[in-house]
Amino acid sequence: MDIEAIKKQIESDIQNISSSEGLEEARFKYLGRKGVLAQLTATIPSLPAQERAVFGQQANILKDKIANLILEKEKLFGSPASGAMQESVDIGMPGVSQEVGKLHPITRVIDEICNIFLRMGFQVVEGPEIETEYNNFSGLNIPLEHPSRDAFDTFYLKDYEKLLLRSHTSPVQVRAMKSRKPPLAIVVPGRVYRPDAVDASHLFMFNQIEGLMVDEGIKFSDLKGILEVFARSVFGEDIKMRFRPHFFPFTEPSAEVDISCIICKGRGCPVCGRKGWLEILGSGMIHPNVLRNVGYDTKKYSGFAFGMGIERIVMLKYGINDIRLFFENDLRFLRQF
Ligand code: DAH
Repeated sequence: MDIEAIKKQIESDIQNISSSEGLEEARFKYLGRKGVLAQLTATIPSLPAQERAVFGQQANILKDKIANLILEKEKLFGSPASGAMQESVDIGMPGVSQEVGKLHPITRVIDEICNIFLRMGFQVVEGPEIETEYNNFSGLNIPLEHPSRDAFDTFYLKDYEKLLLRSHTSPVQVRAMKSRKPPLAIVVPGRVYRPDAVDASHLFMFNQIEGLMVDEGIKFSDLKGILEVFARSVFGEDIKMRFRPHFFPFTEPSAEVDISCIICKGRGCPVCGRKGWLEILGSGMIHPNVLRNVGYDTKKYSGFAFGMGIERIVMLKYGINDIRLFFENDLRFLRQF
């Protein structure tokens, strides 16, 4: 067998290869287990004894030569093997997991409550956390000298006279009524601020949802009906409600609303202070002074309003005993929701 001729043939074959796939084929064809070189060496035993050594040597040289040629070519295309290595995915490696975030329990309950009111035809409206003194107090029938200013006292912005951090969401009543005409049905979620000492049930910042409905002929019974749908949707169908007379400057008459204790079902337990009832919100018929302040005709229009603290509702709903847990960013707490 003419090794020189074979070598020339193979050399020109490899020179003509133009792709890394072609190179793989050549490697298989010449150097593979049943390739040309393997066939050559397989003939060695059948050669005359004196030729075997030389032939074997030449075959080995040829083998190296081919391997080198293929290697050289490989550098031109990049070998399919090394390409595959670069892109390969080791499916045996431990995965890098992406943690999926979730909604904060406060956000979740705000969404839930807003959705209940959306289904009853209310719109969701928001207002600024920095408010005017007028919207937070005077517009809501809380004049400067009135003692109930204390209950809604807040942080004042020193350099901006008459601006403050709102201490309730009620000022958005004034904004909404001024910028729209009845009929009006809105809920207003948002953060509010008070200079309260921090403890298990008080923070200097918390969330409220305000509700407001104004139209011709709105009655206290409308307020009761709407709030009953709300309380049942949030706390369950068998919840009981009661309206307790109260005072708020911006409503007349005013009431605080209690639900039967969701822990003891009204029998009396430490959570409800053995009363069987839990206070969840303040409400009432919008005071005529407030309607007048926004330019509404009190002979034509009436309305109700209510306001509730979200943290308290979330705490009751999930049995949480410390309001500070909401804002400490402790994942052991937050992951439970
Ligand atoms: N703004 C009151 C508060 O922060 C809650 C409230 C009571 C809102 C009665 C109302 C209402 O709209 O009618 O305590």
